[in-house]
Amino acid sequence: MDIVPQHVSIIMDGNGRWAKARGKERVYGHMEGVESVRACTEAAVEAGVKYLSLYAFSEENWNRPEAEVNRLMELMMEAIHNEVRTLVENGVRFVVLGNRARLSDSLNAAIDALMDKTAACDRMTLIVFLSYSGRWDILQAMKRAAAEKGADALQEMTAEDFAGYLVTAGIPEPDLLIRTSGEQRISNYLLWQCAYTEFVFSDVLWPDFRKPEFRAALETYAQRDRRFGKVK
Ligand code: IPE
Ligand code: IPE
Ligand code: MG
Repeated sequence: MDIVPQHVSIIMDGNGRWAKARGKERVYGHMEGVESVRACTEAAVEAGVKYLSLYAFSEENWNRPEAEVNRLMELMMEAIHNEVRTLVENGVRFVVLGNRARLSDSLNAAIDALMDKTAACDRMTLIVFLSYSGRWDILQAMKRAAAEKGADALQEMTAEDFAGYLVTAGIPEPDLLIRTSGEQRISNYLLWQCAYTEFVFSDVLWPDFRKPEFRAALETYAQRDRRFGKVK
């Protein structure tokens, strides 16, 4: 097994509780969380991770109060504007995956512009899952595959073929999935793709999850024994 995971994914959780513990509104937790994104991106590049993916907003998160949803979308927009240079300088390719039809035109345009600007960067790929859910992904894959191939060809389809219709097509499955804030659940994240992923749960709230915590999770991963159902 490779000691350094090729693909690390994070369910960034606990922003609201972080803010509440300080007597502040939830949005302060989201703002501080952006700093953790920056720190973990840097730590991942330094460690030689090739793909870092972040669960930023689930399909279910649309059901939060409108003001919080709007603020989260604004923060995403601000982060895109602020991080262009750092991403390019560090050779980080930026990708957004999810149900983009639900995002505003202006946010979609900003995302496309950043994806274009960083398209040739090849040191690491940073994937932000926005308006994403695992069940949505599997359903859209099924619908597209059925439309493209027809019912008869679907009968011949392998799991590998099917993965080519998920929004993560071409991206290796996560080796390590970290969830912060003490919660131990998948919350409709990468349901198909995490079939053999190693999970690391941290009690640290996302705004406090910085380089040392990220590196500690990599060390925990390095101790794991992955068997993929085989006998070793
Ligand atoms: C994670 O923090 C950020 C998003 C889900 C957008 P939360 O906002 O879920 O914070 P908690 O879990 O309520 O503390
Ligand atoms: C999962 O966190 C989604 C993201 C981190 C984007 P939630 O806070 O939405 O998950 P639950 O509701 O605690 O399962
Ligand atoms: Mg949460």
